[in-house]
Amino acid sequence: RVKRRQDYKPPEFLVDQVKLKFILDPSDTRVLTKLHIRFNTDAYGNCDRAHFHLDGDREVIELVPNSLKVDGRLLEEGEDYDLSKAHLIVKNIDGSGKGALVEFQVSLNPSKNTALMGLYLSKSNFFTQCEAEGFRRITFFPDRPDVMSIFEVTLVASKQDYPVLLSNGDCVESGSCSDENYHYAVYKDPFRKPCYLFALVAGKLVYLEDWFVTMSGKRVKLCIYVQQGNLPKATFAMDCLKQAMKWDEEQYGREYDLNTFNIVAVDDFSMGAMENKSLNIFNSKYVLANPETATDSDFEAIQAVVAHEYFHNWTGNRVTLRDWFQLSLKEGLTVFREQEFSADMTNRTVKRISDVMRLRTTQFPQDAGPMAHPVRPESYIEINNFYTVTIYEKGAEVIRMLRNLVGPEGFRKGCDLYFDRYDGMAVTCDDWLAAHQDANPHVDLTPFRLWYSQAGTPQLCASTEYDASQSTLHLHLEQYLPPTEEQPVKEPMLIPIKMGILDRDGIPVMVDVGDGSAVESKVLNMKESKQTFSFYHVPPGSRLSMLRGFSAPVRFAWKHDQPSDDLTFLMAKDKDEFNRWDAAQTVTLRYILDIVRRMPQGSLNPDSMASLEMSPSDDVFEAFRMTLLDEGLEHRFRSTMFVLPSELFIAQWMKPIRPDDIHLARLHLKRQLATRLSSSFWSVLQRLERELEGEYRLDAESRGKRALKNICLEYLCCSQDPTAVSLALKHFRKANNMTDALACLNILSIYGKEEGEMALAEFYRKWEHEYLVLDKWFRVQALVPSKDTLSRVQNLLEHKSFDIKNPNNVYALIGGYALQNPYAFHLADGSGYKFVADQIRKLDKINPQVAARIATSFTIWRELEPNLRSHVKEQLNLLFSRNNLSRDVSEVVGKLIE
Ligand code: ARG
Ligand code: ZN
Repeated sequence: RVKRRQDYKPPEFLVDQVKLKFILDPSDTRVLTKLHIRFNTDAYGNCDRAHFHLDGDREVIELVPNSLKVDGRLLEEGEDYDLSKAHLIVKNIDGSGKGALVEFQVSLNPSKNTALMGLYLSKSNFFTQCEAEGFRRITFFPDRPDVMSIFEVTLVASKQDYPVLLSNGDCVESGSCSDENYHYAVYKDPFRKPCYLFALVAGKLVYLEDWFVTMSGKRVKLCIYVQQGNLPKATFAMDCLKQAMKWDEEQYGREYDLNTFNIVAVDDFSMGAMENKSLNIFNSKYVLANPETATDSDFEAIQAVVAHEYFHNWTGNRVTLRDWFQLSLKEGLTVFREQEFSADMTNRTVKRISDVMRLRTTQFPQDAGPMAHPVRPESYIEINNFYTVTIYEKGAEVIRMLRNLVGPEGFRKGCDLYFDRYDGMAVTCDDWLAAHQDANPHVDLTPFRLWYSQAGTPQLCASTEYDASQSTLHLHLEQYLPPTEEQPVKEPMLIPIKMGILDRDGIPVMVDVGDGSAVESKVLNMKESKQTFSFYHVPPGSRLSMLRGFSAPVRFAWKHDQPSDDLTFLMAKDKDEFNRWDAAQTVTLRYILDIVRRMPQGSLNPDSMASLEMSPSDDVFEAFRMTLLDEGLEHRFRSTMFVLPSELFIAQWMKPIRPDDIHLARLHLKRQLATRLSSSFWSVLQRLERELEGEYRLDAESRGKRALKNICLEYLCCSQDPTAVSLALKHFRKANNMTDALACLNILSIYGKEEGEMALAEFYRKWEHEYLVLDKWFRVQALVPSKDTLSRVQNLLEHKSFDIKNPNNVYALIGGYALQNPYAFHLADGSGYKFVADQIRKLDKINPQVAARIATSFTIWRELEPNLRSHVKEQLNLLFSRNNLSRDVSEVVGKLIE
């Protein structure tokens, strides 16, 4: 059951051409399949006869009797072919490489497909999702990415129920069938592709149309398909698509290669979106938006996802994967491209900060626990479990380091070579590195490769020694990579550390390592497990700014904690804005950990917090006040400075983890900041209220203002200022946009009393019929950090607007609770765990992929304090002991209890 990277073998048969004919019907769809195949003589030479293996999920697809033929000859089961649980084996096909035509028909029942893999229905329309292994739920086929074929697809369906018929490539023919109630369309995709990029859509949809002229002057038709009534909500996504197309031409020289590009929005979708060739299918939350229904962050997410899927046309489709172990080859790279695009479209520093927050909050814990795996995994049971933050986000960090290593021009050269050399091929991470190595012969990329093979987050520990007589500063660095299950011994990594020096007034000191160059910011390439770097001409009292821009995905710490005035100094003076934010994170993290460590377990509780006599030093408050009031800084950046380290991030620095204490200590700090800075929060808030008055505007400046205004309001409400709470209610009611409305709803449901209930009820009444907005309503309630949240979530499961078959609903309510609300999830009697385990069991029958994702909420369980740990253990054992678990869930739970 375990698949290993080492076991790769090229396919025995290649499929040059695929012809599919779908006769679409909700409960009995027929798929006629014609495959032009040929023995892979390149890999295996000639042979007399060989067996052709096709994958097919026999739980969902049924071979129509007497339909299987080879070169026109009808085959007999047992004699000429075998059917097993997951395969069709056609025996004794010519092995000389001259080719054969295999034909057959299968039948499917899309209406029963709740797993949303393969062909399924959403609101009575047909959709497909094939990545990673969904095509085998549509027909029998060698379902692996290194089998690349030309597809021709015919769709036949009722005119009335399915007026729109779409597949990959261009529509070359369409018309009415002999039965006038039916129509058909034929699509041809001229590019060879793996079957995971196949897609079809059929149904009642309307579309928004636009054009893009590519750099070589080709006119591309762009269409976004949505349900009736949603057209106005698609215009923003259309703008993003055009921006992305232009950016990819400018930055990478990549041009779109077909005459049409379609995006289709669907409400029932297990993930974000899918890059099917020329027919991207999107979770509707990443397409539909207007200011009344979508927040500023929703708009940004749409921009990122639209670009991400579009960029896949080159990184993923034109150059594709040899096997699924290479997943990060397309995902890490495409995330990186998308991050850079978003940075160019919005605010670079803020984008970087939010990416790093996400990495630290979600990827670091994964890398430190039983789910840890390298960016290029060595083995898996269910590939769907490997669409992880490690493959995606850490994968993107690896690309970022590579670009820094070879420089922007070297990187562009390497990418050009990669596209040139591997266009139309299915390749590996090694091929990617080879292209960069060949394009940049002066850099040795050998040590860099470890980033692909070693799991875990490197820990970097630093200390300094100053030699006043020589004005020399020695920086001692040590790296440590904790062992993981598969890799007990690890090699030291190549860690690029971007750093700078500030003198005691905050003026940059040129970094001089004695190599003749002196620069403001220097990248130290650390390669050994212990290494010392010396800097010359350093004035006394200078301070180091380390890991600027988060130049490597590592956990950095000083051996001896920096005094807080060093950190507040960096908060105010660092030339690297990212590090100003990071200094604020460190100062607050340290203070929170201080409280937690000093207070014995159980001594913190919500009532005792007010009398807790601990406080950050005055310079900390001052540094925050200065940031808040500094008109020279962008609003968005200022607001980000006030987002305290997440509870999940804090937990990584504590053993064993006491989630309640972390929450309470963090809240204590938040209240102290709120109280001490109250008048500054009020003055900024009032000023921004005035500036934002009038019509809603979506530009970056206004978004920044809203973010800062709302965070001021949040702090003020957190300090239990009744005037602030009534103001939040007032803002909630008069808001002309979802950003303000949702921010206030969130604040009120956490810090208000009756106000929270009132706002929730009003919000529901107003948005009862907006499916995407209701997701926000579910999530807000799941995120209330309270010991009563569990019962609220339980009640909401029964709500008439909640549908457990819909992944967005599940992620909002159950995911919000289990993955994003530690204080409410970790209940001393274990009832939170029991609830989530019950939901996993229920979900597993519906959609295993979603169930498995919810199960990752237990990732850190071994680090929890003993009482909690034993409760989780009980639930995990119960879960695992159950037979009939999906491969998805049993792999995750199996790893957790291993
Ligand atoms: N390739 C898609 C994207 O990142 C995601 C597909 C996710 N598939 C899955 N089985 N989880 O754009
Ligand atoms: Zn992707």
